[in-house]
Amino acid sequence: MPDPEAVKEGKRFYEDVPMKTPGFFLKGSGALDWGMRNRLARIFNPKDAHTVMLAIDHGYFQGPTTGLERVDLNIVPLVSHCDALMLTRGILRSTIPPACAQPIVMRASGGASILKELSNEELAVDIEDAIRMNVSALAIQVFIGGEFETRSVHNMTRLVDLGLRYGIPVMAVTAVGKDMARDAKYFRLACRICAELGAHVVKTYYVPQGFDTITASCPVPIVMAGGKKLPELDALTMAYNAIQEGAAGVDMGRNIFQSDFPVGMIKAIRKVVHENMKPAEALEYYKTLKAKKA
Ligand code: R5P
Repeated sequence: MPDPEAVKEGKRFYEDVPMKTPGFFLKGSGALDWGMRNRLARIFNPKDAHTVMLAIDHGYFQGPTTGLERVDLNIVPLVSHCDALMLTRGILRSTIPPACAQPIVMRASGGASILKELSNEELAVDIEDAIRMNVSALAIQVFIGGEFETRSVHNMTRLVDLGLRYGIPVMAVTAVGKDMARDAKYFRLACRICAELGAHVVKTYYVPQGFDTITASCPVPIVMAGGKKLPELDALTMAYNAIQEGAAGVDMGRNIFQSDFPVGMIKAIRKVVHENMKPAEALEYYKTLKAKKA
């Protein structure tokens, strides 16, 4: 029987007590196999356990998104500035130089477009092809509360099983339907379900109230998704707050590639994520880089 009382709001998250990480620098990853930890150590910097992932996978359901019309011209020059690149296999094979040193986080779900119900996804990459492309992780959308919730959760658990077979970690991406609440209570539910069912990393959205309860109650690393384009200071502030409140990094797209100066923006995000630079200082850094370029 479901027990709504068992998930009521409470003060038992111990947000100020970080989870211990015996055996490995990343939360919840100490018991994983060597290959799995090695791949995670390519994505997350072992010095601070943080990552700046650049997300450019938007085309898998919405086509040539603003800023991604020409990945060869707009994104390839940015790649060397990220810690990991999240994208589809089509863009990887067609457009990203194979000499790229950045680890690849490959989108492994798809099937629905913006013209239809987005939660109606299937697995979209064969594990053997992921291995051929030397990916460091696989990413999959999970639609908790969505119309095809069970299918998306099953896609994830199937991918986790395949990933475990070959030592490839899975990042679950919590997807939010148009009319669903985006609050800490929802994201705690979604992130925890993903981790309980085997995800090695969870990507989720920032919420201003209670984000630290989401990170505290998720036993694997959380990376923050960027969301729609914001003014640069707001995006830097959101990234700063997420890191201070327990995120292990960011996986941002539009707030980087839709910026007036994407290289400056990703460099400023790096300062916030890896050096705890305050948002106002990071904005000045961004402006200085932009002025130099001009
Ligand atoms: C969804 O389109 C993808 O999973 C994106 O990777 C994700 O939304 C992050 O990109 P953005 O920062 O633009 O939201």
